Amino acid sequence: MQMSLKLGVNIDHIATLRQARREPFPDPVDAAAVCLATGADYIVVHLRKDQRHINEKDVALLCKTFPGKIHLECSYTPELEKAALKYKPFSVCIVPEEPGEVTTTGGLKFSPKVNKRLLEMIENLHKKHILVSLFISPDAASVRTAAKLGADIVELCTRDYSEAASAKQARKCLQDLALSTLLAKELGLEVHAGHGLDYHNVLAVADIGGMACMNIGFAIITRSLFAGLPTAVNEMKGLL
Ligand code: PXP
Repeated sequence: MQMSLKLGVNIDHIATLRQARREPFPDPVDAAAVCLATGADYIVVHLRKDQRHINEKDVALLCKTFPGKIHLECSYTPELEKAALKYKPFSVCIVPEEPGEVTTTGGLKFSPKVNKRLLEMIENLHKKHILVSLFISPDAASVRTAAKLGADIVELCTRDYSEAASAKQARKCLQDLALSTLLAKELGLEVHAGHGLDYHNVLAVADIGGMACMNIGFAIITRSLFAGLPTAVNEMKGLL
């Protein structure tokens, strides 16, 4: 296994729990501090259009408290772009957001109209010295488009891999991830992976040469209910 893969811990569901009772706790800032002290290299939060878990105030506080450590996920609406430019996270991952989705369902669907908008948003983020990642399907066309649009990073969607119905299907997904990683590296991009990764399935993805970071949320936060957040983060970091 290659050394020193970074771990981005997504703490959205700390805020989901808070919002279930509309209390001020559990506080994502407290959670971020624990994660960073116990193995997380950076913190990931997804600001959704409806702010159903992480809200703008959280993003503001997190960016202020942990400069250089916040990786913000958001869609490419003007409102979300405005928030990203205002709070200046270290990096932004642009993701698609479909109405009614429970979680992100896949990588960006590129089209001339979407690409024009992405290009504009990437340029605006770069003007504020914010690194830009694009969440994409692990295929050559998406990697090439991300590079052409000027992204710094691609996050390869591991949803198909994590939901593979057979070992054969999982192997095919891993092959797609490996080939996409190789191409992305050739094109000068940093490579992240995320969605649906857990304590079991992360190993094969982490083993792919050229991967830099794993972004993981649900598995860590749900494990933390039984093991505690420091243990849950530390165990995952230990696997990388
Ligand atoms: N990466 C991206 C772009 C995501 O949208 C998500 C889900 O919010 C994740 C990673 C983390 O996925 P999970 O919570 O399944 O670990």
